[in-house]
Amino acid sequence: MVLGAQWGDEGKGKIVDYVAAGARAVVRCQGGANAGHTLVQGGQKLALHLVPSGVRHPECVIVLGNGMVIDPLALLEEIQALEATGLELRSRLRVSSAAHVVLPAHRLQDRAEEVRRGAAAVGTTGRGIGPAYADKAARHGLQMNVFQRSAGELRQLLTATLEAKRAELAPHAALDVQAACDELVACREQIAPLLCDTAELVHDLWKAGQRIVLEGAQGALLDLDHGSYPYVTSSSCTSAGALAGCGLPPQAVERVIGVTKAYATRVGNGPFPTELEDATGERLRTTGGEFGVTTGRARRCGWFDVPALRRAAAVNGFTELALTKLDVLDEFDSIRVADAYELDGRRIDRMPSDTALQARCRPLYVDFEGWQRSTRDCRSLAALPTAARRYIEFLEARTGVPVAIVSVGADRDSTFRVAPHGEPGA
Ligand code: IMP
Repeated sequence: MVLGAQWGDEGKGKIVDYVAAGARAVVRCQGGANAGHTLVQGGQKLALHLVPSGVRHPECVIVLGNGMVIDPLALLEEIQALEATGLELRSRLRVSSAAHVVLPAHRLQDRAEEVRRGAAAVGTTGRGIGPAYADKAARHGLQMNVFQRSAGELRQLLTATLEAKRAELAPHAALDVQAACDELVACREQIAPLLCDTAELVHDLWKAGQRIVLEGAQGALLDLDHGSYPYVTSSSCTSAGALAGCGLPPQAVERVIGVTKAYATRVGNGPFPTELEDATGERLRTTGGEFGVTTGRARRCGWFDVPALRRAAAVNGFTELALTKLDVLDEFDSIRVADAYELDGRRIDRMPSDTALQARCRPLYVDFEGWQRSTRDCRSLAALPTAARRYIEFLEARTGVPVAIVSVGADRDSTFRVAPHGEPGA
């Protein structure tokens, strides 16, 4: 499992691409087109939102699992963009017939709900994720298997669902039911051949001893159950959610990799104890290119937050960390890490679950001297400047999770494995 250990945007796509070498399948388990991952393919930059990041490994089956909410129009657009770069994927792309459909009405509803929340807006990506999951839980959503019905039946189902949505939305947004139905029915012939029981598919691969990578989207602190509710996404981004979202049992899990940046970022609203609303935050944003792939929004930036990572590690059971964007800190002469919080006069080591309490946490920092040397060409722990190694060792000691993978640049090859401590190369 490759999971977000912070608030999303940790660089999971890059780590999935790295660990997928030799794997038989890469599976997305939750979320939808709210996720964003940039892929440089054939000299072209592509933004992936639904297709798993294992796409560049031709031997990998790429699976959109049952826990996802899928916008069929967005999916076809993405497939076509990938095919235009020469990637063949329809023969190895499998979409769960049990995943839920994101309708155009859900996108309108998402935006209307945000307007209604006013100052308390979540800051969603506007991709219809919350309303699609709400319909799923309320048991009036549509599963992707509707695209396996005849065109006539599909039109009937869509018309009934969208008419109900139109009435609900009427005072806030205008939904053109006919146009939406036409667009979706037109997807049927391309979507239907991709559908199958993906839980059975991944189960059979696991039983056959094949390696499977589960690709998380968003991050532990945006999790519906464990994040800063209501400033969260509407799916379960943790290890338990990944299993529910693909149909594998807990015994199938060997490694749970928590991906974390060497600092912290958050998009959207909600508490962020180490946020820097000053020139240092701006410097992290500019150096790290911290602008959203899905929405283009500037990300909020801050220092690494150990209490938050501890919470994520506890909930997910991380066996190791992948530390990304270490190079972004290269030029800083001093670097801070929140080692604990002060909450109402008490020192605490783990982020509390209550959002109101999270908002009152004050970080207690430990200061590090920067290494002020480029790490971009380093391909082993030993090649890193001593100060960078000390920084990593501190994070390992304080979070209690070993760092197994380090990334020092955007390129595919700027990632290296850290040999377990005590082994040659460590
Ligand atoms: P939603 O998932 O679009 O409903 O947005 C809910 C919250 O999750 C907002 O704060 C979004 O900014 C955040 N979010 C959703 N997807 C991502 C992601 O892939 N990266 C970072 N933040 C995300």
